[in-house]
Amino acid sequence: MDWRIKSLDEILATAERRSLPRSLGAARLLMLGVGAVIGTGIFVLTAAAAQKAGPGMMLSFVISGAVCAVTALCYAEFSSMAPVAGSAYTYAYAVYGEIVAWLVGWALILEYAVASSAVSVGWSNYFVGGAARLFHITIPVALTKGYFAASGGAVNLPAMFVAISCTMLLVIGTRESATFNAILVTIKLLALAMFVVLAVPAAKSQNFQPLAPLGMSGVSAAAASIFFAYAGFDAVSTAAEETRNPQRNVPIALIGSLVICTVFYLLVAAGEIGAVGAQPVFGTGGEALTPGTRTFAATCLASANQAKLVCSDEALAFVLNRIGHGVAANVIGLAAFLSLPTVILVMLYGQTRLFFSMSRDGLLPPLLCRIHTRYKTPHVVTMITGCFVALAAGLFPVGALADVANSGTLFAFITVSMGMMILRLRDPTRIRSFRVPAITIIGPLSVLGCAYLFWHLPLFTRTVFLAWTGAGLVIYMSYSYRRSAMTAERK
Ligand code: ALA
Repeated sequence: MDWRIKSLDEILATAERRSLPRSLGAARLLMLGVGAVIGTGIFVLTAAAAQKAGPGMMLSFVISGAVCAVTALCYAEFSSMAPVAGSAYTYAYAVYGEIVAWLVGWALILEYAVASSAVSVGWSNYFVGGAARLFHITIPVALTKGYFAASGGAVNLPAMFVAISCTMLLVIGTRESATFNAILVTIKLLALAMFVVLAVPAAKSQNFQPLAPLGMSGVSAAAASIFFAYAGFDAVSTAAEETRNPQRNVPIALIGSLVICTVFYLLVAAGEIGAVGAQPVFGTGGEALTPGTRTFAATCLASANQAKLVCSDEALAFVLNRIGHGVAANVIGLAAFLSLPTVILVMLYGQTRLFFSMSRDGLLPPLLCRIHTRYKTPHVVTMITGCFVALAAGLFPVGALADVANSGTLFAFITVSMGMMILRLRDPTRIRSFRVPAITIIGPLSVLGCAYLFWHLPLFTRTVFLAWTGAGLVIYMSYSYRRSAMTAERK
């Protein structure tokens, strides 16, 4: 079989030939990383994580943070060798060849596009909550929850609105949206710091008991879902082609953003659990309910349960309200409202640059890498992506979207970590300005950690992932294989 491996030198040469301008420095890249990482995961999904793990969700954060840390090291080594757009997809081309690269690119659509939808829905939760708290406006559920959400809606209009607005910003240009991003990331960090300062002192030790009401399997399931809170740091490497001195700046931004986020997450989770408790709700038969299901939604309607963290749509504002900081709750709601779009921007940005690379390689139609004459952005692919992201955001619930995004991300992470180890053996003399320390431990830990998280995703999510991968293979065989730039080269 012809694996069509592209050498790293070939990849770097292509990038030089048709390159995007190098405008991003280390600080902007770090902002891009933090902007991509802190979002719906911490602002919204901690409620679902608490339903799965109870206070044990702190352990879930540690587990998924550790998996991301070892994987970030693998990404950093790769991007220090090949700082080009496309990230895991491009790396897979160099290590495994075209078909695996295609599958990784295909899985990354889940990571970037579906994650953008998930964050849009998270934003919508804060928008709707804010409208009710500040202006006493209750928007009908039919217009604020998607058709497939358990609480019974039709279309999530605010989520669609924010997805489309972010798409328009990206069409106008990277430089503008990166500056905008830096301001909003600062707002987000200040808001989380405020949450910690108010919630941690209100913590009561009894709220941490029982620590893991659903055992280790609950903690693992929560880790697999809350992994979403860390997703996005790899978007930094997708911007490598637009970065100045990428060999130095990309590893700094990747690892730096992860460290900042982990510290914030653990403090915020401790504040949530300690201040209001994080025990799950149970069904009439005493069974643990799965968040996002109709039974769970119905149980949460009971007045006793409305005061529980696990039933809240906007976890952080909910906690502050419950401990008597109504104004701060509004401030955090406003911060989420203003800053979650930065996550959507970075994710959408990653998606469009990925499509750009895939189209440059001939695997997707050439129309997609058309650059706008005035804005110098890949506007066609940005607008097409934005439409799909808005549609998914309008129809599906946040938890399911986040889980599906996680499945694609974890698949990509596994291929990157394995690929990094393979390249050490195959191409040991190539210059790596960043080398993974203790590779025989870190490399396998990353692969096994990601596989463990993948396995603990819901069965439904894993099935969706398999179906998506199958569809990807069919498209590759019927279109991309023949249209690939590699086919043309070999004629
Ligand atoms: N990590 C990002 C978030 O939590 C995707 O929103």
